[in-house]
Amino acid sequence: MTSRESILSSVIVTKNNLLNKELLFLKTANNWQIAVTVAVQDFDDYGQRDVLRPERDAKSGMLPPKLAQMMLNLASTDKNLTLLDPFCGSGTILQEAMLLGFKNIYGTDISQKAIADSQANIDWLKNKYTLKNKVNLKLSDVQNLAIIFNSPRGEAGNKEIDLIVTEPFMGDAKILSQHISSRTAGGNQVNDIILDLKKLYYQAFLSFAKICSTKARIVFIFPAINFQNQTIATLDKKAITSTGWQQLHSPLGELIYQRPGQIVTRNITLWQRQ
Ligand SMILES: C[S@@+](CC[C@H](N)C(=O)[O-])C[C@H]1O[C@@H](n2cnc3c(N)ncnc32)[C@H](O)[C@@H]1O
Repeated sequence: MTSRESILSSVIVTKNNLLNKELLFLKTANNWQIAVTVAVQDFDDYGQRDVLRPERDAKSGMLPPKLAQMMLNLASTDKNLTLLDPFCGSGTILQEAMLLGFKNIYGTDISQKAIADSQANIDWLKNKYTLKNKVNLKLSDVQNLAIIFNSPRGEAGNKEIDLIVTEPFMGDAKILSQHISSRTAGGNQVNDIILDLKKLYYQAFLSFAKICSTKARIVFIFPAINFQNQTIATLDKKAITSTGWQQLHSPLGELIYQRPGQIVTRNITLWQRQ
């Protein structure tokens, strides 16, 4: 068996019947370890959840289901906690939360189309996997979450949120790529977009502080834009920290998700109350 890549992909391992046969030689600090591949990801199932669901919104950016699952695992393993995705888009995070067994799931978005898309995808998923969990969807600007969750008269009543897991609005992908590929475009338009995103994320974290329980955790993607040989971050640590949240750091360093050639790099961050 030969491959151009030094690490065999899950597809190659499965298609060539290499489970329980592929040997891995791992060099550690002091010695070598030998391992056998006993399982690989279910790439077919991930692919179906990504591509075959009824609604996909390429304009808003598509979060891979695998990444959504990693973010949920990072947030908590306690499936009884109340979870919210406040930028739910077409519902990728909500779908994966259902499959992982979360029982109290909320999704909000400023767009009526996003709420309708999420509903269609959730109905499709429920049917495909015979799931019973209920997802509550509401139309809301992220800045107004307290009206829904933190008021006895709000739609959800007085409901404390324990986990927020979200990929926020990251700038209009089409407009961003137009500015970046246009020779005449200065950095100004891109910098304006970054500034607007920073404001949105600051407002979002202020809003989260109003609706979350004291033990709450947030997993939030901060995009960074790759432009003219530099990477411009949207994470303003000082501003976000001033809203009452503190960042937790992974022993592995920054958690970056990026594919070659992408304009947007995703920085996956974890937060708890100060
Ligand atoms: C990147 S998409 C989320 C994609 C989602 N993770 C998915 O996989 O479908 C961002 C979403 O943020 C929503 N949005 C933009 N501004 C918002 C705001 N101020 N409050 C709430 N939602 C907003 C957009 O309508 C869009 O659906």
